[in-house]
Amino acid sequence: MPQKKVYIETLGCQMNLADTERMLGMLDEIDYTPTDIREEADLSILNSCSIREHAVDKMRSYIGLWDKKRKPGSLIALAGCVAQQEGASITQIAPGADIVIGTHNIHRLPDLVLQAQKNQAEDIHERVIEIWEELPEDIPEVPILRKNKYHAWVNIIYGCNYRCTYCIVPKTRGDQRSRSIAEIKREIETLAMEGFKEIMLLGQNVDGYGLDIGTSLAALLREVHEVEGIERIKFLTSHPCDMTYELIETVAALPKVAKYFHIPIQAGNDGVLKRMARRYTYARYMELISYIRKLMPQASITGDIIVGFPGETHEQFMDSVKAVREIRYDACITAVYSPRPYTPAADWEDPISAEEKNERIRLLNAVSAEVAEEQSKRYLGTTQQVLVEGLSQRNPRRLAGRIFDNKTTNVDVPGISDLEAAPGESEAELSQRISKQLEQYFGKTIGVKITKAHAWALRGELISGPSQNEKNLRKALAISD
Ligand code: 5AD
Ligand code: SF4
Repeated sequence: MPQKKVYIETLGCQMNLADTERMLGMLDEIDYTPTDIREEADLSILNSCSIREHAVDKMRSYIGLWDKKRKPGSLIALAGCVAQQEGASITQIAPGADIVIGTHNIHRLPDLVLQAQKNQAEDIHERVIEIWEELPEDIPEVPILRKNKYHAWVNIIYGCNYRCTYCIVPKTRGDQRSRSIAEIKREIETLAMEGFKEIMLLGQNVDGYGLDIGTSLAALLREVHEVEGIERIKFLTSHPCDMTYELIETVAALPKVAKYFHIPIQAGNDGVLKRMARRYTYARYMELISYIRKLMPQASITGDIIVGFPGETHEQFMDSVKAVREIRYDACITAVYSPRPYTPAADWEDPISAEEKNERIRLLNAVSAEVAEEQSKRYLGTTQQVLVEGLSQRNPRRLAGRIFDNKTTNVDVPGISDLEAAPGESEAELSQRISKQLEQYFGKTIGVKITKAHAWALRGELISGPSQNEKNLRKALAISD
């Protein structure tokens, strides 16, 4: 039977990206191979996000367009947070979808696809909709088709027990559910055997990990740290309210754990934090930051801030600007508040105009970029260990990867950037020759001297790498190539 093709468009956070890899893994078992070309797909899936209205608008326009330009006989599926949030009424929002599946039952995707195929074959015009209220008691382990060969996401906790007044996540992902340490460790041991080097432990509130099963993120980190072959461990996203000093000390003590923290503050003003139901004050947040910097002066810290929360005054907003300067974020992700259905803040009076909010976010972004660029300069002239993930998207003559503490870095390899075509060699052949030469670095950790520091990325030059070492060794031992 010829293989069918599946295209998945993923909106939103790492949780959705991880779910997409699961969907591809399961669909592989019923003979669907991934494609990057939507038009040739037999099954197009939109993995939707509902964190802001903008993402929901995007979902509508994708599904509308796909439905209009449909490959004959192909299927359209809607998955992810909007599907979970809206339940059966989603068909009004996305009338073009043949399959609708929630976030709690993605393990059911292959069955639903087969059902939709059957309906189509029998000319039954019925949508296949399945949305579960909760995750099953035993969350099934499903095959995962990972996009990146060296860096893997591993879910450690699903859902969130908090009810921040702006946030849709508890509605779309449910209450907190931690996976057991044994199960997580097994998954990571398998990844190590498959050659993965870097693990990102994922959760909406990773610091809450274990509270429901009598353990902690610090304990999990110590266990994962034992796995041979894994070189780097990171976790995301932290909640200041559950972050403990023990966790910070554990990160500082374990050499394979990146000194990298993503800790959204959301607002720099206590009144706003209170109305957001964030459960910490600015002073408490700063205590955590100071402790991190005390134990790990070079740690990389990133955060999120919401601008224009209902009722946020100009002075309160300026506290967020002040916070960015005081915290000295390596990167700060900002968003204008977007009212979400089913959340308390959506019903609150919001006298601030859209224009004013846009002005605020412009200022906050400018300050964040300025701070990030200043922070980035601390890497200038240093040597960093970069795990190479592939080629730079902007310049395929450069490698792209991340330093140990997470910052994206593009790397020049001596002798490659000024390579010219050999006589009779076409540009395409030259590009191919270059990517072949650069491929040897993929998945390897190389020493890179940082030569440029931009706000969001670094640039550097390869100074030592496994292949380079091997070459030197060969030279020393006088072994010819
Ligand atoms: N409006 C704007 N931003 C939001 N976020 C979450 N909910 C909203 C909302 N209703 C932001 C928060 C969170 C990030 C993932 O998205 O900053 O940390
Ligand atoms: Fe949403 Fe708050 Fe839970 Fe984060 S902690 S997922 S912002 S409810």
